[in-house]
Amino acid sequence: MPEDRWAVVDRFVGATIAADDDVLRHAVERCEAAGMPSIQVSPPQGKLLALLVGSIGARTVLEFGTLGGYSSIWIGRALPADGSLITLEADPGHAEVARENIAEAGLSDLVDLRVGPALETLPVLESEGAGPFDLVFIDADKVNTPEYFAWSLDRTRPGGLIVADNVVRGGTLAEADSDDPTIEAQRRLHEWLAGEGRISATTIQTVGVKGHDGFTLGLVAG
Ligand SMILES: C[S@@+](CC[C@H](N)C(=O)[O-])C[C@H]1O[C@@H](n2cnc3c(N)ncnc32)[C@H](O)[C@@H]1O
Repeated sequence: MPEDRWAVVDRFVGATIAADDDVLRHAVERCEAAGMPSIQVSPPQGKLLALLVGSIGARTVLEFGTLGGYSSIWIGRALPADGSLITLEADPGHAEVARENIAEAGLSDLVDLRVGPALETLPVLESEGAGPFDLVFIDADKVNTPEYFAWSLDRTRPGGLIVADNVVRGGTLAEADSDDPTIEAQRRLHEWLAGEGRISATTIQTVGVKGHDGFTLGLVAG
């Protein structure tokens, strides 16, 4: 099936059961106007995140990689009014746009946006006693996905979920001899997860407006 057909199907789903709204569309437009890359999750993927939040009654969520806050809005809307989303973003410019988008969505009280490289923010969260989290969404710099996953596993409650996006990377996940550090990181994640008894995980390949990719979903053991 040609790649443009994947996108057409994605748009149909996004126009029917996983529709975004003016606030979400405006968030994307604000990112585009600021010259930010168009690398946010698609509407069907945003809806999936919201469904996962709702399915486990999540109240506390940690997100790696805010960009303009598009996925943060999907997640934040699915949380109860007294829930919390901590979202980590390295780029101050992205964070500024995200704050505007999150404010327009009426979620500023619920979303705690931390600016700085996530590996530097994590010790701060640790010192504050953040967590345990009900759900973690990992969508930042792909080379550090295994480190973010391991940190999160220590701080996600039994029955909680951890989602890592962009692990298939156009199918290059299959390339054992790749010297691309982002691919090596996803392979390392899978090899580590295979021997990690505290979580049961799988990876689902996806096609759509973002081409061929996929996400890893793990359920923390009870
Ligand atoms: C794929 S985008 C996130 C998309 C967002 N989750 C969404 O769907 O709307 C990745 C983001 O991670 C940020 N990022 C890159 N390296 C990072 C790091 N070391 N720590 C925190 N954020 C980082 C980038 O600046 C970018 O905004």
